[in-house]
Amino acid sequence: MTRSVTGPGTTQIADRPGVVDLGPGHSSPSLYPSRELARAVEEVLRDAPGEALAYGANRGPAPLVEWLSSWLANVHGSPVDPSRILVTAGASAALDRLCSLFTRPGDAVLCEAPTYHLALAQLASRRLHVVPVASDARGPTPDALERAAREVPAAQEHVLFYTVPVHSNPRGASIPRDRWSSLCTVAKERGIHMVRDDVYAPLTYAEGVVHPIRADADADATVTSLGSFSKIVAPGLRVGWMITDPEVVDRLGNDGLARSGGGPSHTAAMIVARLCGSSGWDGHLRRLRREYSERRDVLVGALEAELGDLCEWQPVEGGFFVWLRFRHDLDAKTMLREAERHRVSYIPGSEFFPASVAGEGRRYARLSFSYHPADKLREGVSRLAHAWSTPGVPVYR
Ligand SMILES: Cc1ncc(COP(=O)(O)O)c(C=O)c1O
Repeated sequence: MTRSVTGPGTTQIADRPGVVDLGPGHSSPSLYPSRELARAVEEVLRDAPGEALAYGANRGPAPLVEWLSSWLANVHGSPVDPSRILVTAGASAALDRLCSLFTRPGDAVLCEAPTYHLALAQLASRRLHVVPVASDARGPTPDALERAAREVPAAQEHVLFYTVPVHSNPRGASIPRDRWSSLCTVAKERGIHMVRDDVYAPLTYAEGVVHPIRADADADATVTSLGSFSKIVAPGLRVGWMITDPEVVDRLGNDGLARSGGGPSHTAAMIVARLCGSSGWDGHLRRLRREYSERRDVLVGALEAELGDLCEWQPVEGGFFVWLRFRHDLDAKTMLREAERHRVSYIPGSEFFPASVAGEGRRYARLSFSYHPADKLREGVSRLAHAWSTPGVPVYR
């Protein structure tokens, strides 16, 4: 008897029937390249079963490393030397491996605020103490980075600064180049290791925009960039990459975990290498950018039409998110209760701040446009507008 591979408990989250949940920042299942992946699986297992199903090279399979080395020029402006690339089991796993290498429980870690809430959860799991680096509309400020660095005990050997500089989760916006250079200068002076989570960098919706890893030569700080196939192929594959100093690649590629288990997600990495090397790859990426930018336009258009007098937000040039700010002194958690009553949801802003400054997120809400098709996005905003104009709700309209 063949067992079913679907059903409860199969995926991380399940859709709540009848609810438009604008919370999760997941890629759209309708955009997974499942047919192309099926072909890649078949080809890899036909042509190279011995290599694909073995323990993989510790630093990741050479075909994927080589492909990344040249393709990353489209994302970061110049090719990346293969000695600087480590294949990972996704950006989350990469962050964890960096923590295992550079931190000890109780260490301080600097973190852009607001930031990706589940990176905060990861740092908490490692028992790290998060020191927030405050942001203005252009991202974390160099002054705040200076101040935060002063809070790190002098005896601590390594200082990491976690940031999502391109199409930020949750801010939707990117750190401009001059601001990034200033942050690199502070990092270099203070010996801070910048960990930039670049999972949204390939999803830029304007043509010809690149996001250099090093802003300029004189601000040559230590920078590690984390990339992922979760947002541009499919998250269940658990394949990503890290661009970092060759010494870090060597250390992680030769630690006990790598020597025992080989490269992570090896078979999936071989399949991804075949997919990315196929003639359809550029078209796939173009399709993703077109679809997601249309969804962004739908969500932003609906927000402008229905909630423009109540909320404001920054322009979104890529990624998956709109970071709403209530114009009045309204609490996004209280507003969420009303929203849930009308079967629509989102993540309140306080989740994206370290606990010590969670109040700063009070007036914010993160809405994702990646997961739902256009009609659901319109319906979600219409429900929000309805929820927030109900008599008794503390809204000034
Ligand atoms: C900023 C950021 N980093 C990392 C991830 C997770 O990446 P991965 O699936 O590669 O672990 C996400 C997913 O939402 C994200 O938004």
